[in-house]
Amino acid sequence: MIVLGIESSCDETAAAVVRDDRTVLADVVLSQLDEHRPYGGVVPEIAARAHLDHLDHLVAEALSRSGIGLAETDAIAATGGPGLIGGVMVGVMTGKALALVAGKPFIAVNHLEGHALTARLTDDLAFPYLLLLVSGGHCQLLAVEGVGRYRRLGATIDDAAGEAFDKVAKMLDLGYPGGPAVQRAAERGDPGRFALPRPMKGRPDCDFSFSGLKNAVRLLIADQAPLSEADRDDIAAAFQMAVAEAIADRTKRAMGLFAMTYGGPGALVVAGGVAANAQLRRTLTDIAGQTGFRLVAPPLNLCTDNAAMIAWAGLEHFRLGHQDGMDFAPRPRWPL
Ligand code: KG4
Ligand code: ZN
Repeated sequence: MIVLGIESSCDETAAAVVRDDRTVLADVVLSQLDEHRPYGGVVPEIAARAHLDHLDHLVAEALSRSGIGLAETDAIAATGGPGLIGGVMVGVMTGKALALVAGKPFIAVNHLEGHALTARLTDDLAFPYLLLLVSGGHCQLLAVEGVGRYRRLGATIDDAAGEAFDKVAKMLDLGYPGGPAVQRAAERGDPGRFALPRPMKGRPDCDFSFSGLKNAVRLLIADQAPLSEADRDDIAAAFQMAVAEAIADRTKRAMGLFAMTYGGPGALVVAGGVAANAQLRRTLTDIAGQTGFRLVAPPLNLCTDNAAMIAWAGLEHFRLGHQDGMDFAPRPRWPL
């Protein structure tokens, strides 16, 4: 079984071809970073136009690299939401058009489900597992019980983790995108020089909060101004450590819940763009070691937005007999 996947919900235009033996036959991603950089963030209008300009030839490129003709695919999957609606519309329209032309089934994939199921593409992983989804728009802990069966254990009550990275990068003048810039500065800095809060630490639920930490960083910057290069690096390091430890505390709580519900520890899967963060990966490796969980961290190119994860999630649904009609309407919001 072979599925063509399309992703266009944020600032990556992507197409991929995936086979049910977990082979990624082609995976093409075009980042719009340069188009959005002058504005310091993603501009929805610019994103939608860029998707429209590039998606056709990215699909052609993915098919050509995979050596698979459209006629040989079994289904077409496209991100149906949640995301920036203009981009999602471009992807859904393209997916439907290809499906109609080729006479193939169309599957609308929840972008979050794409992130949630990626680990089953990269690893031999059975349900249930614990998922930590940390991206620019989302921050949640889920028990993944099966395809389409997700139990939310906790979520952010304000900002997403990636959003906090992006905002702190802006405050420190580190440039865009924020996460990788903060990580680079943090690698040069001393995480112990400044004390920052660990939001929600010790609370009995599994929820996250980052706005207080972000505010503490703002006050610290005002207090230290004007900042030297070393101050910047030390603040970045302190912030990154605070985020990693806060996420670890919440994840540990979820591990306890998971083990109680499903009869013992299992796999902890980390997904979303922030999963690329090296400090977070180190901290999660530590807590996995302490709790008997197996940490599964897909390769970085499959942690950030891509179409292989959409093709794979589409394939998981398709082999269970699911598909969508041509009347599927793109969804700006679509909780898992
Ligand atoms: O999953 P993703 O590619 O897009 C969605 O939000 O769906 O995640 C992007 C987010 C951005 O906020 C970016 O700053 C963050 O992931 N990010 C990182 C790192 N690389 C990307 N955050 C921390 N450290 C990184 N190395
Ligand atoms: Zn994403």
